Amino acid sequence: MLNTTTKLEKIVVFSGAGISAASGLPTFRDNDGLWQKYDVYQLATPEGFAANPSLVHQFYQSRRLAAAKAQPNAAHLAIAALEQHYKVVVITQNVDNLHERAGSTDVIHLHGKLNEMRMLAKPDAIFDVGDTEFSQGSHAPDGSIWQPEKWRPNIVWFGEAVPNLMLASEHISAASKVLVVGSSLQVEPAASLLLSAKASAEKHLIDKQPGQAAKANKLSQGFNVQQGDAAMLVPKLVGQWLEAKS
Ligand code: APR
Repeated sequence: MLNTTTKLEKIVVFSGAGISAASGLPTFRDNDGLWQKYDVYQLATPEGFAANPSLVHQFYQSRRLAAAKAQPNAAHLAIAALEQHYKVVVITQNVDNLHERAGSTDVIHLHGKLNEMRMLAKPDAIFDVGDTEFSQGSHAPDGSIWQPEKWRPNIVWFGEAVPNLMLASEHISAASKVLVVGSSLQVEPAASLLLSAKASAEKHLIDKQPGQAAKANKLSQGFNVQQGDAAMLVPKLVGQWLEAKS
């Protein structure tokens, strides 16, 4: 019996904070973005952590709680639904787990995960801490006494190496459809991954204010740019892609 495993067409979705905006999570560079309110150097660099670990833990703890309370929105759910007819790889800069909670099964996090913590002394021992709060006198993820300077969120800070870049680039260059959603494409090396997209691939960019992303010239030719809310526009595009396969 021939095993007729049909080779599914591959879609890569490259997402940024804008896809989680409709779920109530702040972006970074919008007017009300995190880096408009907080000092990125103090809160998202190894030097900032070394200077004040408790402050950094407070910052990520509040984001962890917010992300745990947030719900996947129509954009996350539509992307998950694509898996009925396509091989879908989500490459996200986001540290929330809304893609996974929407049902996406192949998600690559370039900048880490809010719900994970690790010991500075043992970087490979990663703990899923959900929305647990850690404070003076409480237990650390491994059951020892919590010492803020000994633990860090499993997040990639500015100046640190970004994991999975080669894997992400291979997926993008093999995709017949590429969807970029909710990213200003201001941060490297993540943004330059999009240069791996094939000229022949069908390429879309969905963003509320696409100007920044489009002029970031990380987009090879032929991106179809759509301005608007991801929660509105992504389901529409996904509907067309599913229609084409039904
Ligand atoms: N629908 C679609 N796009 C939106 C929406 C929305 N509802 N709301 C905001 N956007 C767009 C903005 O117009 C902007 O282009 O999402 C993008 C958010 O850009 P940034 O705030 O720069 O977020 P992102 O691109 O994900 O940042 C990349 O920077 O600080 C680091 O590690 C952090 O992963 C983050 C990286």
